Amino acid sequence: MTLTFVSRIDGNQIRCLIGSDRPLAAPTLCFSLMAAPKVISGGTLVRRVAGYAEVALPDLVPGAEHEVVLEHAHKEFGPRNRAWLPLGAYLRVGKDCLPLPPGNDLGLRANDGPPAPALSSDRLPLVPQPTDWRPSGGTLEFAALALAPGLEGVSDLALRLGLAPLVAVGGVALSVSQDAGLGPEGYCLTISSTGLTVVVGGAVGLHYAGITLLTLRETCGGRLPCGTITDKPRFGYRGQHLDCARHFFGVDFILRLLDLMALLKLNRFHWHFADDEAFRLEVDTQPLLWQRTGFRGEGELVPGVFGGGIRAGGSYSKADVAKVVERAKALQIEVLPEIEVPAHSHAMVKAVPGLRDPGDNGEEVSVQGYLDNIVNPAVPATWDLLVPLAKEVAGLFPLGILHLGADEAPHGAWGGSPAVAALKAREGLETSDDVQGWMLAKLAAELGASGIRVAAWEEAAKGCQGGIGNGALLFSWTGQGPGIEAARRGHDVVMCPAQHAYFDLAHSPDPDDWGAAWAGFVPLEKTVAWDPIPKGAEDIAPRIAGVEACFWGEFTTEDGQAEGMIAPRILGIATKGWEPAGHTDGAGLRALAGVYALLFDRIRWKRYRGA
Ligand code: ACM
Repeated sequence: MTLTFVSRIDGNQIRCLIGSDRPLAAPTLCFSLMAAPKVISGGTLVRRVAGYAEVALPDLVPGAEHEVVLEHAHKEFGPRNRAWLPLGAYLRVGKDCLPLPPGNDLGLRANDGPPAPALSSDRLPLVPQPTDWRPSGGTLEFAALALAPGLEGVSDLALRLGLAPLVAVGGVALSVSQDAGLGPEGYCLTISSTGLTVVVGGAVGLHYAGITLLTLRETCGGRLPCGTITDKPRFGYRGQHLDCARHFFGVDFILRLLDLMALLKLNRFHWHFADDEAFRLEVDTQPLLWQRTGFRGEGELVPGVFGGGIRAGGSYSKADVAKVVERAKALQIEVLPEIEVPAHSHAMVKAVPGLRDPGDNGEEVSVQGYLDNIVNPAVPATWDLLVPLAKEVAGLFPLGILHLGADEAPHGAWGGSPAVAALKAREGLETSDDVQGWMLAKLAAELGASGIRVAAWEEAAKGCQGGIGNGALLFSWTGQGPGIEAARRGHDVVMCPAQHAYFDLAHSPDPDDWGAAWAGFVPLEKTVAWDPIPKGAEDIAPRIAGVEACFWGEFTTEDGQAEGMIAPRILGIATKGWEPAGHTDGAGLRALAGVYALLFDRIRWKRYRGA
């Protein structure tokens, strides 16, 4: 049987044409959109869960394509580009599920865009740019080092990336000495026509000097310019987040991402493996979580929301976690796990009984369109689940910090819960923010007693009792304002403003592009057009722990689709995390991206090629 499926954007609507070369009686079209869909014509909506929908169609007749016209239920979610077309579409006919062709190509743009400007002669072909570079004239032929004690992580990285070995017989000698005054991550590398000398602040500084040497060898064609590089990062937290809940990224992809991060001196991997659609860590404290939600689709607890299709997913074993943590350690990267509560917990609520108040008659809807995506802090089952779960997850990662989530609680959350009403009266709470703040503070205290520090998205600072509490590390994502406010109230803050650091946002407004648009578009230049410590906020400088880029997986149906969303924009976050303020502007970064295009190609990491 041959089925055809083509969808296209037509103004605010999405037109889908479905064809079959055999008669099909009363099929149901199953698919997902970015947000709740509305059927305008061509079928009847019979089921909806968030952006997932089932639409009853009339019989399909060979030779006559059938048209279904859709809109997003909320006008602010007008379709922007081909990622907003139906994902994971299939037909259910009786008991059979028949996959439909993707209907929209989710590959990367093929055009190379305008040529990158030349790199200015006073700059090294290196991202991030070093704090200080003093050229002294001449060059050093550099193919490999003679020996590299302390650089095993870099040496292994070179081989994994498919680059020439970093160490080889007949290689250049590297003289290493230590000066703690350079700081633990700092180094001073002198390249002369006769050899290499490095002074390091510590083992991490040596590792970064090795990354610099490896990169310059690749970007300078094996002929290093002579001079002295004095270098250290501006921020201690330089992160990349990956949403592995909406899309299950294979461990191999995560390991490749760690390699790319290491090449750019990023040092925190924020592993987001739990959300409304799945909880993917194979925990012992509550096996139902991953056993019942690791896969979604037909007949599963969670249907094919966000491109799940007939069946998609997976979960991470303890051995997978150990592998990720071990690789990260070798690359001087720490892993920050996130369990994501109280909201974004539809999967958790579905998998484990008793996490909501049975008397709750509230009708709050999450931004993504879920009706039941928040656990209830006034029922004992929530605490019975969360405390052991949080402790188990935190215990798998050496960082000692657990990200609790806390973003996007639905407006009016718990408003219909008698148990929460009683909690409010008892604890002096009024609003949903108050309740969430109380809950997070209680969880943070429980974990703090076990030596675990908590982190959370910016919303966790809200609440009449001070929210989660000052010990928490907060992530400012809707912009920088909430982070500045939280820092002024005593929080340490990681800046990840969507407008500059969300790599799931489309690069451009072109409808042939791919990605979200709720915070605008993020061309490469915008990734550096901001300061983590903005003008007027110098007072909170000591509270800004660093920066992070996020990649959310709502549109992703294959691991490789993320590559061109991440590269070359990851150059921008590496720049912001490491370099002094204003060191590299958009034009400078575009020139460096031109140099790195060749390196991305060499290490087989796909990159965005559009304007
Ligand atoms: C977020 O993007 N909801 C943290």
